[in-house]
Formats: sequence, structure tokens, C-alpha cells
Amino acid sequence: MTLIDKLMEKTKKAVQGAASSSTSASNAAVAPADKDAPYSSADSNTIAPSLLAPTSGTGTGSSILHAQQLASNAHTNAEYSLGHPPASSGGGGVDLVAERRKRKTTLADLEIKQTLGTGSFGRVHLVRLRSTGKYCAMKVLKKAEVVKHKQVEHTLNEKGILEQLDHPFLVGLHSTFQDSANLYIVLEYVNGGELFTYLRRSQRFSNNVAKFYAAEVVLAFEYMHSKDMIYRDLKPENLLLDAQGHIKITDFGFAKYVPDITWTLCGTPDYLAPEIIQSRGYGKAVDWYALGVLIFEMLAGYPPFYDEDPVKLYERILQCRVKWPSHFDPAAKDLLKRLLTTDLTKRFGNLKGGSKDIKNHKWFAGLDWHKLFMRQIPPPYVPPNRGDGDASNFDQYPEETEPYGKVQPDPYAQLFKDF
Ligand SMILES: Nc1ncnc2c1ncn2[C@@H]1O[C@H](COP(=O)(O)OP(=O)(O)OP(=O)(O)O)[C@@H](O)[C@H]1O
Ligand SMILES: [Mg+2]
Repeated sequence: MTLIDKLMEKTKKAVQGAASSSTSASNAAVAPADKDAPYSSADSNTIAPSLLAPTSGTGTGSSILHAQQLASNAHTNAEYSLGHPPASSGGGGVDLVAERRKRKTTLADLEIKQTLGTGSFGRVHLVRLRSTGKYCAMKVLKKAEVVKHKQVEHTLNEKGILEQLDHPFLVGLHSTFQDSANLYIVLEYVNGGELFTYLRRSQRFSNNVAKFYAAEVVLAFEYMHSKDMIYRDLKPENLLLDAQGHIKITDFGFAKYVPDITWTLCGTPDYLAPEIIQSRGYGKAVDWYALGVLIFEMLAGYPPFYDEDPVKLYERILQCRVKWPSHFDPAAKDLLKRLLTTDLTKRFGNLKGGSKDIKNHKWFAGLDWHKLFMRQIPPPYVPPNRGDGDASNFDQYPEETEPYGKVQPDPYAQLFKDF
């Protein structure tokens, strides 16, 4: 099997701690614990134990950034609330949370169609709202699985975070509901498919193509961080292309409100920042590190520390020795060195200038960030679109056999009362 063949395998099945450390080339997410608290020794065993150094206090560079970054984001935030670009996902800045709470959906309101994707903890279906005929994507999480994999808190975070978000490059929430067996998250349907599919098909992207997608992710992260939320699961599978070809980030399963630092070991192996692997307290800087991994993967066709053996992968991340493909643009390489650094006092995005250091870097020279936010820069690739409910840009998956909405006991009702 060649490297490309391995990378083509998308093992998005449930991956738990130890299992994930022994799965090869997996882009599945890792989440051994539901509590954002320092590791217990049991947690430490779940992922490459030899590499998990004892926790050495919680001081990280992330606290360096906080107050200053909020100030430096002030302009950008004003921009978000003033002018909403056309065709954005959300409700235009009004009281979105209240708006979404009012929206009550039940299974009876939906026609459930094929599976669009499966992930570590859920399955996502194309659905059609009977009332309006509008298509949406519905993520279904089995309560029993969520509990078994200790993802209760993450799932409550996913709903809570989605309710607060409204940005052109983040998937919009329609509504959430539950029955005795499942949790349901109804999202805007993003019909262009995953960036993953497009990247593997192209093998790698040209400098300008990678720059376009990276820039849209920068704006989305800048917005989330301005609300003290971190994303924690950047990877090409979680980046969808909308009908015009703009990025929509989906999967907020690991997103969290983190005003300062957090400790949970979660994410996807190739994209884990060194401070996560070292079980140090970490903050927003992990998203900027992951942006570096994404840019590298888009330009090279494979992630920077790729290794079939997860222990070696983590070693390589900690040593941060990157083999630079000779075709990389020198400006891209310069930015990547400033993102893929283990030194939090040097990592771009985490310094006094916050995200502006990234936006003003020479790799992005000439990019009109306001136009980008307004979705006025034409995307490099427009996915084929055969109508509203077309799902041909997604892979096909075996369908769920257990029907949803069966009347049965709900032993976990108490755990999900806030969902
Ligand atoms: N809004 C959407 N529109 C279209 N497809 C979607 C949407 N949201 C998710 N998908 C598809 O479903 C897949 C799985 O969804 P998601 O990533 O949320 O699940 P997960 O179980 O949290 O995955 P992971 O393994 O990354 O933790 C996505 O990779 C994507 O292909
Ligand atoms: Mg996902």
C-alpha cells in the first residue's frame, strides 16, 4: 500500500484511547475522557503512554494571548456584527439562541434520507423538512454510545457551542431534539462534500488553492476565539464545501468554551499540538497549530509528521522535525515554521498580535480579508451541483438498520436533560 492509499483510507469509526493509538493512519478523532480536567493515570495509558510526560504545571503561553488578543480582535468583531455576507448560514445576528430554542423539531417533521457521513460518535443523514421542503443534515448520536465513550460533556458542548455561532464559514444550526435512544442535531446541509475528498482526488493543492481554504479557516477560528471557543478537531474531513465552493467547518464535537486553559486529550492524531500530547494545559493556540498541519497537508498531500506507527507519530510531533517538500513556496514554509512550533511563546496566533500576525504574514500578502469574509473572492473549485437534495458529492455508506424514534425506556434521561 502506498502512502497515498493509506491516506485515502478514512477510518472514521469510533476510536477510543488505546485503540486509537494502535490504529494506523487513522484520521478518526481521539477522545478518552469527557472531563476537561488533568489526566488521571488511567487516562494517560490510553494514548501513547511512553510519550506522556508527567504533567508539569499548567502555565502555557496561551495565557499570554488572552487579554491582548481580545483587544486586537475588537475591529474584527465589529465587522462580524455589522455586515453579514450574503448566503451565510445563520440568522443574521439577532438573538440566535432564543430563535433556535423556539424552533421545535421532531422526527415526524422530517423525511430521513441517505447517510452523508459517519464519524467516531455519530452518523449524519440528509433530511428534508416536510413543512418547507428544505434539505438539512441531521447528526444522530446514540445516547448509549455517547455514555459508553464518555462523551456526555462533549455532546452537551457541541449543542451549546453551535447555538452561539453565526459565521459564513461555520455550519449553521437549525435545531436539536432527542428521543429516548438518540440525540439529534439538525444542521444546514452543505452539499459540496468534504475537502478531504477533493484533496485526495487532487493529491495536493496548488499554493493559491491552499491559501484560499486556509484563509477562510483563519476567519472562522478568529471568530470562534473571539468568543473564547476553541475548535480542537481541524482536519479535511470536517471541512465541507458549500454550493459555491466556500468552506463550512462542521463537527463541533470537541469544541469548547475555554477562556483560559483546558486539559482534555482529544482531537485527531496527526493534528494534535505537542502541548496536548504532553498533557500540559493548553488553549486556543492548538487551533493555530492545527491550521499549520492543515496547510502542510493541503500543499504536500500528507500531514507533516505522518507515521503509520502512532508512537512514532507522537514522537515526531514532539520533536517537530519537518521534512520540507522542495516545491513549497518559501513564504508558505516561513508561515508553517511559525505555526508548527512547539514553543508557545513563538507560535503565530498566540502572540501579542493574535490572529493578525497570521493574516499579515507575507504568504497572505495581497489578500483582501474583508472581501473574503463577504464571500466575494471566487473559490478555486465549484463542486458539481445537481439540485438542492443532491448528495452525489458524498461517499456512500451502509445504512442504519435500527429505526429511529422507537418507544423504549430512557435510562440516560437525566444526563441529557440539558440537550
Ligand atoms: N452539515 C453537514 N452537511 C453535510 N454533511 C455533513 C454535515 N455535517 C457533517 N457532515 C458529514 O458527516 C461526517 C461526520 O460528521 P461529524 O464529523 O460531525 O461526525 P463525528 O462523529 O463527530 O466525526 P469525527 O470522527 O470527526 O469525530 C462529516 O465528515 C461530513 O462528511
Ligand atoms: Mg468529523
